[in-house]
Amino acid sequence: MTQWLNDPITQWYNKTVAHDYAFEMATAAVRFGFGVTREVGAELADLGKQYALVFTDANLRSLPPVATVLESLEEHRIRYSTFDRVRVEPTDESFREAISAAQADNFDCFLAVGGGSTIDTAKAANLYSCYPADFLDYVNPPIGKGKPVPGPLKTLLAIPTTAGTGSETTGVTIFDFVRMHAKTGIAHRRLKPTLGLLDPENTRTLPPAVAASTGLDVLSHAVESYTTLPFDKRPLPERPILRPAYQGSNPISDVWSLEALRLVATYLHRAVADPSDDEARASMLLAASYAGIGFGNAGLHLPHGMSYAVSGLVRDYKAPGYPVGHPLVPHGISVILNAPAVFRFTSSARPERHLKAAEILGAKVNGARLEDAGKILADKIIEFMQDLHIPNGLRELGYQSSDIPALVEGTLPQHRVTKLSPRPFGPEDLAKIFSDAMVAW
Ligand SMILES: NC(=O)c1ccc[n+]([C@@H]2O[C@H](COP(=O)([O-])OP(=O)(O)OC[C@H]3O[C@@H](n4cnc5c(N)ncnc54)[C@H](O)[C@@H]3O)[C@@H](O)[C@H]2O)c1
Repeated sequence: MTQWLNDPITQWYNKTVAHDYAFEMATAAVRFGFGVTREVGAELADLGKQYALVFTDANLRSLPPVATVLESLEEHRIRYSTFDRVRVEPTDESFREAISAAQADNFDCFLAVGGGSTIDTAKAANLYSCYPADFLDYVNPPIGKGKPVPGPLKTLLAIPTTAGTGSETTGVTIFDFVRMHAKTGIAHRRLKPTLGLLDPENTRTLPPAVAASTGLDVLSHAVESYTTLPFDKRPLPERPILRPAYQGSNPISDVWSLEALRLVATYLHRAVADPSDDEARASMLLAASYAGIGFGNAGLHLPHGMSYAVSGLVRDYKAPGYPVGHPLVPHGISVILNAPAVFRFTSSARPERHLKAAEILGAKVNGARLEDAGKILADKIIEFMQDLHIPNGLRELGYQSSDIPALVEGTLPQHRVTKLSPRPFGPEDLAKIFSDAMVAW
């Protein structure tokens, strides 16, 4: 029995709150293959579509993935317009611009060719162009009203060019709410793309810094979804439809999360070191989708919840090797910088799972004590960070102890993920974890 299960508040909660007894697996449609991007035109033609809006970002606009998509559309006589003003790490403002573009003409389908920033932008544009509403209506509470998506959306094909977010499999879109300096999002199963086309040719041009950051996002997705609160420790929803997409760890998500972690352990270093390593790139693209299916149903917890505050508070940090002009903390970096400190904190709630994750990542766990599980996992993740030249903690990005109250404040509203922390926490715990994350090694 772990320590927190014995504390009086947890015992009272367990006695008085009825817990969920079921979980649901929403699967995503994905098609995988070298060169599968070329099928996009035929796919849309077979779906009876005639006029597409293609979302991408300014950097990708001139790279092979977009060129291949446009050639395929032309070959199959699908009319298209291109929106290449996706903001890397999107904001509510950049979403609004994309929504206006989607509303500007009579598109019958959307294509997203890019990383998580592009796929998320296309999801939002699809939603608000189909069901116009006040911007905060669909946004996650407590920042927005959390209204459900009213009905089916238009066809959206997602073609990821990073091996990272798994956004092609999820019903989630994330943006920086500029006014609050915090990331938040919209979560609903209907946001899920109609089909994800996973083509390892599309990650060939990934700069090493992006391959490293996005790969560490996959690593954290897998570990977080495997170590969240179990689904049967969440409160029972009043009606089945109110069961959240992020339900807590469950036996089916575990399969996807653990397999994603195995792939990351074997292939992440190779994919970063050598972009011509086809096997490694293909495996990381699969890992990203596997982890997306895992966390899309189980959910995430504190590393992501805290990352939204970190990236929302960015000042002038410009990530080395990132093909972007504006200051930003790349998503994967904002996540992984918190991860070691978080897992040292959460491991007492689910030590066996923390130890198993460490073992899959290559740690020696024979004879290890469960009390040391968090440290063993954290140390292994730090090794990955060092090998991949990730900054040594939040301090290297310019954050200081005086920022901790604002970082805590930015994390507390992230209920959708933070409430799945396997170990209950308060603001003081968060402050301590942020303090531990200032310097990683
Ligand atoms: N919806 C979800 O389920 C989900 C999950 C995790 C993260 N996210 C969000 O996704 C966003 C991050 O997405 P990301 O990490 O995939 O990166 P990204 O889309 O922000 O792209 C990062 C940079 O890499 C470049 N790039 C991408 N693919 C390339 C390629 N093949 N060749 C050359 N350059 C390439 C882009 O042009 C951009 O400059 C964040 O906003 C994050 O919050 C969403």
